[in-house]
Amino acid sequence: MTTVPLTPYPPNPAPGIAAATTDLTKVYGGGDTRVVALDRVSIGFRESEFTAIMGPSGCGKSTLMHCAAGLDTPTSGSVRIGTTELGALRDRPLTRLRRDRIGFVFQAFNLLPTLTALENITLPLSIAGRHPDQQWLDRVVSMVGLSGRLDHRPAQLSGGQQQRVAVARALASRPAIIFGDEPTGNLDSRSGAEVLGFLRDSVRELGQTVVMVTHDPVAAGYADRVVFLSDGRLVDEMTRPTPDRILDVMKRFDTRARTS
Ligand SMILES: Nc1ncnc2c1ncn2[C@@H]1O[C@H](COP(=O)(O)OP(=O)(O)OP(=O)(O)O)[C@@H](O)[C@H]1O
Ligand SMILES: [Mg+2]
Repeated sequence: MTTVPLTPYPPNPAPGIAAATTDLTKVYGGGDTRVVALDRVSIGFRESEFTAIMGPSGCGKSTLMHCAAGLDTPTSGSVRIGTTELGALRDRPLTRLRRDRIGFVFQAFNLLPTLTALENITLPLSIAGRHPDQQWLDRVVSMVGLSGRLDHRPAQLSGGQQQRVAVARALASRPAIIFGDEPTGNLDSRSGAEVLGFLRDSVRELGQTVVMVTHDPVAAGYADRVVFLSDGRLVDEMTRPTPDRILDVMKRFDTRARTS
């Protein structure tokens, strides 16, 4: 594999970096069951950029997302959201930071079945007792492309529509960064394309920062940049990706896996 210099993360908080990890290491278990899920991963995610994270199953993609989003704690190394070091925060400020500055979209849509689409979108703001930035919310809602269906309940919406509601819910609080762990993993290709188009538009039109794990080269092709993980390490990166170029890199992973 060619070694491409990865975008370095400067030691001092850098303007324009929405989130960054430095020497992020995560070890699960001990003794015979010890697994090094992440091995000194240093990466920065630029503001208003759409990054896809790819790599073989078990290479540490979800662990990286969970540590970067403050949902899991590193064994060593650090994570920063904007200029805030997550390791320096106690539980309550960390919970508040996660709620106010980070959006997360999972493979499962996790919508509340008794609420309408619009109520689901604004629920986290209501829980936090925050008044929505109405102009922002109006833009998010108009971009979600559900006009006429906002008062429908999740069961009355298609999978793609439900996931778009989940993305709009993540966007509603205007977070510093949105993390998605295989957000299109449960969708057929057409519904997936709707969700990916929405994510890309949120970056282009709203200046949102998005980081998404995916196995799918077509999905990763929507991103501005793709980073490749292997065995807990960052091994390659690509800007302005196309599905064909991504496939070429993935083939090299496969060849390595077969010959190692
Ligand atoms: N809670 C845990 N306890 C022990 N080992 C874990 C735990 N979570 C993850 N691992 C291990 O850490 C490694 C990385 O897991 P992770 O879930 O980050 O991989 P992934 O790249 O997201 O894989 P996939 O593409 O299958 O979702 C794997 O070897 C996994 O078995
Ligand atoms: Mg995973």
